[in-house]
Amino acid sequence: PGRGLPWALVLLALRGAAGAAPSFVLLLADDLGFGDLGSYGHPSSATPSLDRMASRGLRFTNFYSSSPVCSPSRAALLTGRFQMRSGVYPGVFSPDSRGGLPLSEVTIAEVLKAEGYATAMVGKWHLGLGINGSFLPIHQGFDHFLGVPYSHDQGPCQNLTCFPPDIKCFGTCDQGVVPVPLLWNQSIVQQPVSFPDLVPLYNKFSRDFIADCARRGLPFLLYYASHHTHYPQFASQEYAGQSRRGPFGDALLEFDGSVGQLLEALQENGLANTTLVFFTSDNGPSTMRMARGGSSGLLKCGKGTTYEGGMREPAVAYWPGRIAPGVTHELASTLDILPTVAALAGAALPRVALDGYDLSPVLFGSGKVPFTVIQPQTRPAMV
Ligand SMILES: *[C@@H]1O[C@H](CO)[C@@H](O)[C@H](O)[C@H]1NC(C)=O
Ligand SMILES: *[C@@H]1O[C@H](CO)[C@@H](O)[C@H](O)[C@H]1NC(C)=O
Ligand SMILES: *[C@@H]1O[C@H](CO)[C@@H](O)[C@H](O)[C@H]1NC(C)=O
Ligand SMILES: *[C@@H]1O[C@H](CO)[C@@H](O)[C@H](O)[C@H]1NC(C)=O
Repeated sequence: PGRGLPWALVLLALRGAAGAAPSFVLLLADDLGFGDLGSYGHPSSATPSLDRMASRGLRFTNFYSSSPVCSPSRAALLTGRFQMRSGVYPGVFSPDSRGGLPLSEVTIAEVLKAEGYATAMVGKWHLGLGINGSFLPIHQGFDHFLGVPYSHDQGPCQNLTCFPPDIKCFGTCDQGVVPVPLLWNQSIVQQPVSFPDLVPLYNKFSRDFIADCARRGLPFLLYYASHHTHYPQFASQEYAGQSRRGPFGDALLEFDGSVGQLLEALQENGLANTTLVFFTSDNGPSTMRMARGGSSGLLKCGKGTTYEGGMREPAVAYWPGRIAPGVTHELASTLDILPTVAALAGAALPRVALDGYDLSPVLFGSGKVPFTVIQPQTRPAMV
């Protein structure tokens, strides 16, 4: 046991000499549309923290998800590869699905873990449960996981409270499956999950993780995949009834509150200037839910369609002191996040075909996406 430690210290010292490795917070909203944030023009949403991030960071107007539904979109985000490559398409996983994102796929968490990063995921996974939890985040590079293995409407919700003191969840969720569990690593810690208590737990977990990494001097990846604003909307005491946009607005406000808390935690721990915070959404709004779904603004349609409203997402890159405030109209996508994060961390890319680009020139430089010729062996297969 004595052998590992000195080497780890030598590596840390070398890293220190070469400049501190940046940390990453990846914020993913669920079914949040292009038109849902104040900073993207919504007239009655309250999103002060996201709007502050947008005004002090780089706001994208042409940022895309790779799929208009959840599991494929998340598979592509975490692997930097079109979902067809991992086989996680065209639909989403259900609680009784046996499969998951193949363990052979290399996730952003695995890319960074190999460089000594601490990694944690909080919130909605939706990339498979597997027999005995074999596809959970802790098998895909995340040291810690607190969250729900799939969508929170994939279990009965009829009698559950969504808003305190006791407003029941609106409508019906999936019947005939087990109540939605809350997992910590691989263990069930609550079932059914108590919606009004969920986000405060997530926030505490995230703040503790950030503080712990700061204390240990470890660069980290925190993947915060919110359930908001997916149906059925819910919120804790602090946010229930607080927005001007009804239950949807309250759920969005609670998500925005989490963003505020995370930014505050970075500040408090002296990490604000060494952390890239990237925000986007998994796919467009669930417009068929009407007022209980989101808004794609002036774009056509939403979730489940490949029209603009289903695929184009709000997105902000925030890194005070490194990324200049502004708006970019460059084309970019969730597929670019893995190559970008790997480049910034000085990490090796997975030895597989990737489908995205390193966005560093857009974030820090000329503002243009490089028109790099894709090497033949990595050219997406045309099928
Ligand atoms: C799942 O866990 C149970 C209880 O520990 C065990 O009996 C079973 O063999 C496991 N199944 C698989 C496929 O690992
Ligand atoms: C989760 O797993 C990590 C190891 O990867 C461990 O440090 C942590 O204590 C675990 N958390 C719980 C609640 O079991
Ligand atoms: C909801 O509660 C009512 C009244 O307590 C009960 O009759 C009904 O079976 C419950 N429904 C579900 C889906 O749990
Ligand atoms: C972070 O960067 C800002 C802007 O460059 C600067 O004003 C501030 O002093 C920096 N803070 C720390 C802790 O380095």
